[in-house]
Order: sequence, then structure tokens, then C-alpha cells
Amino acid sequence: MPHIIAPSLLSADFARLAQAVEMVDASPAPWLHLDVMDGVFVPNISFGFPVIKAIRPLTRKVFDVHLMIVQPDAYITAFRDAGADRLTVHLEACTHLHRTVQAIKAAGMKAGVALNPHTPVHLLTDILGDLDQVILMSVNPGFGGQRFIPGTMRKLTALHDLRDAHQAPVMIEVDGGVAMDNAADLLARGADALVAGNSVFGAADPAEAIRAMSAIGA
Ligand code: DX5
Ligand code: ZN
Repeated sequence: MPHIIAPSLLSADFARLAQAVEMVDASPAPWLHLDVMDGVFVPNISFGFPVIKAIRPLTRKVFDVHLMIVQPDAYITAFRDAGADRLTVHLEACTHLHRTVQAIKAAGMKAGVALNPHTPVHLLTDILGDLDQVILMSVNPGFGGQRFIPGTMRKLTALHDLRDAHQAPVMIEVDGGVAMDNAADLLARGADALVAGNSVFGAADPAEAIRAMSAIGA
């Protein structure tokens, strides 16, 4: 399967959100990454249901919603109703992670778990078979445009090995500081999807940036 580029709307110009979504819609990126932050789990507040709902009619691309919030269980069906196709929660925010993952799937979405940079991948051992995706955070969540944490490369290899050992059909997505200088290495180490915020929306030609990243290895 060719790799997936998931442009992160967090780095777009919020005064021209429709334009940004339409640019992604016309691009080869199959997913649009949407970062929801509550100011509690992470030290930033981004956007929520009204924004996701407002942009949903603008594209049929997969909405890959990354929840950086505490108590996500309370909002699962609300994110589904707003237009989420894939919903990822943080392991660090969920006491009853298995229950949360089942609730996401029961609501008709693909379920993901995200790991902060300090969280070891082996903590996923007993949930991996239930997941559609894992998001490996390669920055501390909360902001776009941060520097890639190099230790993520080692974690990616470890997660890839864990997936092989369990023969789990789970996708691996890397989120944070992804750009042309590390994308090929990440893909070679087994990443299936790459989130790209600043490297797309901060580029002189965002559509070209998506095209170039999508073409790696082609
Ligand atoms: C960070 C978010 C990321 C962010 C990535 O908390 O989860 O999705 O938008 O942005 P870049 O690609 O600029 O690091
Ligand atoms: Zn994200």
C-alpha cells in the first residue's frame, strides 16, 4: 500500500480554512489530520466540533481526528456526528483504554491510540490487536512547527517489530516535525502515514509540498 500523507490543519491559516481544506481536497493526500486540544491534556486549545462540522461538506477525504483531551469517552459520538472517520485518543489520557477503543469502534469509526514521546511502545502489547492505528508522537503534543525528536526512530522500529510479532493489521502514523529531511527514513522504518503540518502549510507551495512527500519512494 502506498504511504499516506495526512496534512495537519493546525498549521493552516484559520482565516482561510475553506481554502486550506480545498487545497488538500485537490491533493494526493488521502487523509486530513485534525488536532483537537482542550488546554488540560496539552497546554494549548485548538478547535472542536463546530469547526470539524463546518469543513466536513468541503471534502470527502478521511478525517483523521487526533484528540489531545482528557476524558475523551464523553465526546466519542459527538466527534462521529461532526464527521470524524478515524478517532485517536492518547494512552496517557485513558484509564480504561480498552473500553474507550471499543466505544470508538462501536460508534462506527476506526480507532487509534497515540503515544507521547516518553511512553514506551510495549505498553500497547495487549491492545494492539484491537487498534486500527497507532500515532507515535515525535514532538510533545500541543503545538505545530516543533522539532522532530530523534528517539522516535528507535521507537518506530520497536513498534514495527511489535506489530510483526503480533501480526496485528494496525497502521503506524508518525506525528510531529515530519518534513522532507526525515520522511523517507520514517517510511523505510515502517511508518504507513505521516502527519505534516508546518512542512505543508508553512511551505511556499503547500500543494507541491504534499505532492513531493506523497511521491517519496514512487
Ligand atoms: C501536535 C499535533 C500535530 C501537529 C504537527 O500536537 O498533534 O499534528 O499539527 O505539526 P508539525 O507537522 O508542524 O509538527
Ligand atoms: Zn496530531
